[in-house]
Amino acid sequence: MQQDSVALTEFAPAKINLALHVTGRRADGYHLLESLAVFTRFGDRIELAEAEEDSFSVSGSFADGVPTDGTNLVLRARDALRAALPHASARVSIKLEKNLPVASGIGGGSTDAAATLRGLAKLWDLDAGHERLSDIAAELGADLPMCITAKPLLARGTGDDLTPVAGFPALGLVLVNPGVGVSTPAVFSALKKRDNEGLPPLPRHIDFHTLRNWLEITRNDLEDAALSIEPSIGWAKAALMKADAGFARMSGSGGTCFGLFETGNVAKRAAAQIRSRHPDWFVAATRSMPSEGAHGQD
Ligand code: C5P
Repeated sequence: MQQDSVALTEFAPAKINLALHVTGRRADGYHLLESLAVFTRFGDRIELAEAEEDSFSVSGSFADGVPTDGTNLVLRARDALRAALPHASARVSIKLEKNLPVASGIGGGSTDAAATLRGLAKLWDLDAGHERLSDIAAELGADLPMCITAKPLLARGTGDDLTPVAGFPALGLVLVNPGVGVSTPAVFSALKKRDNEGLPPLPRHIDFHTLRNWLEITRNDLEDAALSIEPSIGWAKAALMKADAGFARMSGSGGTCFGLFETGNVAKRAAAQIRSRHPDWFVAATRSMPSEGAHGQD
């Protein structure tokens, strides 16, 4: 007889670093960063279900090349949760739908692992608040705590010191990757300068125009280093500007670039244009998730 089993789906949004300044380096080699990050409605999906045995499978456009053994951050997140919380012991089937390109500067494995932690805490009814999950997450990677939060935020330190940004609207975005994965450690190693200035203060009122002006006076300090390893990142940015993006920049350690558009509909049209010129590229029109209580752009 089949028993009713508990199951749920947790969304793993893409993480976009709208700006990323490298401000120093710690003695252990990790870099100090200041970043404004948002999360999008486009992302991966994690399906979790109670099961007799643990299992893990991957589907979706970018399933190829995703490891399904214990090195996958999803399984490392499951195991870290079990190690940290004695009640987190039930067997679980995990299915990952991989829609985000791998090793591409938009969260990838980190957002999947964060969604796994959030989802398992619900599935197993764990007494683990946001802070506890963020602490467990931090052990798995520098980008994980911000992916647990998954709201517009300023990240400092190595990515662990987070301040949510209030009043941040939904943004029309297009994500473009010319089919290249870039190694994050390789990009950090290729940096020429590590003691750059921090981010300027955010505008008091954030909308498309004030944000674009602010973006113009900020940087992604990893961009030149990533370009020196993978010059095709420059083509993605150029394609976004050619499609009339209000602003375009590389996210994280690359190679995905984002374009900022005034509305979601304009973003969709631009994405269609880029897709028709570059059918082999990953191109996604999406909107970022606003701060709680803030409204959309269109
Ligand atoms: O923590 P995570 O595994 O995501 O980082 C991957 C690599 O990126 C680290 O091993 C390190 O080389 C580099 N990194 C860094 N400073 C950071 C974050 C990552 O140097 N703040």
